[in-house]
Amino acid sequence: MTETGAAISFDRVGKSFTKKGVATLALEDVSLSVAPGAIMGIIGRSGAGKSTLLRMVNGLERPSTGRVLVGGRDVGAARGAALREIRRDVGMIFQHFNLLASRTVYENIALPLEIAGIAPIRPRVEELIERVGLSAHRDRYPAELSGGQKQRVGIARALATQPKVLLSDEATSALDPETTRTVLALLAEINRDLGLTILLITHEMAVVRDIATHMAVIDGGRIVEAGATYDIFSRPTHPTTRSFLGGVTGLTLPAFIAGQLQAERPEVEAQEVIRVTFAGNHATDPMLSLLTSELGIPVNILAGAIEEVGPHPFGNLIIAVDAAQAEAARAYLERHGLLTEVLGYVG
Ligand SMILES: Nc1ncnc2c1ncn2[C@@H]1O[C@H](COP(=O)(O)OP(=O)(O)OP(=O)(O)O)[C@@H](O)[C@H]1O
Ligand SMILES: [Mg+2]
Repeated sequence: MTETGAAISFDRVGKSFTKKGVATLALEDVSLSVAPGAIMGIIGRSGAGKSTLLRMVNGLERPSTGRVLVGGRDVGAARGAALREIRRDVGMIFQHFNLLASRTVYENIALPLEIAGIAPIRPRVEELIERVGLSAHRDRYPAELSGGQKQRVGIARALATQPKVLLSDEATSALDPETTRTVLALLAEINRDLGLTILLITHEMAVVRDIATHMAVIDGGRIVEAGATYDIFSRPTHPTTRSFLGGVTGLTLPAFIAGQLQAERPEVEAQEVIRVTFAGNHATDPMLSLLTSELGIPVNILAGAIEEVGPHPFGNLIIAVDAAQAEAARAYLERHGLLTEVLGYVG
């Protein structure tokens, strides 16, 4: 489905690569819309098709089937001047920055303006250098910059032609966690200040959590789940999504429990292990103590994490309750707006 007014839309896109007569299907029947001003995170494992998907937005790859639209314009069908015009509206940043070693910060950022023949160059470049916080480094060469500073140059360069869309291919994957946070904060600021639509691909759920308003999970060339980030964090349905979430939301079981967990309920004295997910303003603490005081069901808390997804608190607890009372406990929690999932049993 192609939504009119979308900044980017993929309409039943397929892509296959043929090498020596052997075809690889990199993408299959991908439909996805990115609203103007959204930050859409695409997450998937290596080889899932993320880069291929992204590269179609600026015409570096053409779809084998279906269409990719940027601001309503069909990228795959565009040639020559029409393609250049679309590309001017689409900036891109890369994992390894792709800066020219022989050019200074200033000169790297000026390059797209020189190529596009946009003048005057100086005030635009100075403004961009300021925006990304590199005023003190304008005459340095890439080799004299840290990874985070290099990516700031990459971001400024991508913004030079005042694009409407910014593509990011694993732009923080080469950076340490602290630097990653500052670069993501810069992207969020740019999104907010300039109303730029950002499509970013990553294999790290923490990146999606920290910045993306919307997300899609890609697995084996197909979108298996897509929606508002917060909704998917609260109700992941696909196993790939759950496995990505495990690393960032306390969804993983502590090893000592995981080792004992059984899928079938044992005959005697079992505890049911339940994941409780809470979102928004639901607090679990009173709920769990009420469970004990109102229903008389004792609860063991095995693991938990609370964090923020976008502006909302979001958390997961893993609890164990007597298996005989577990159904009543789950019903109670669900009635109070929490999500529960049975993970298994321990003896
Ligand atoms: N130019 C190409 N020629 C042939 N096959 C390709 C080409 N580009 C990508 N592929 C194949 O398409 C599939 C998807 O590749 P893609 O680079 O999009 O994955 P990715 O999700 O970006 O992976 P990674 O996280 O490792 O960067 C892979 O099987 C890959 O080998
Ligand atoms: Mg890739």
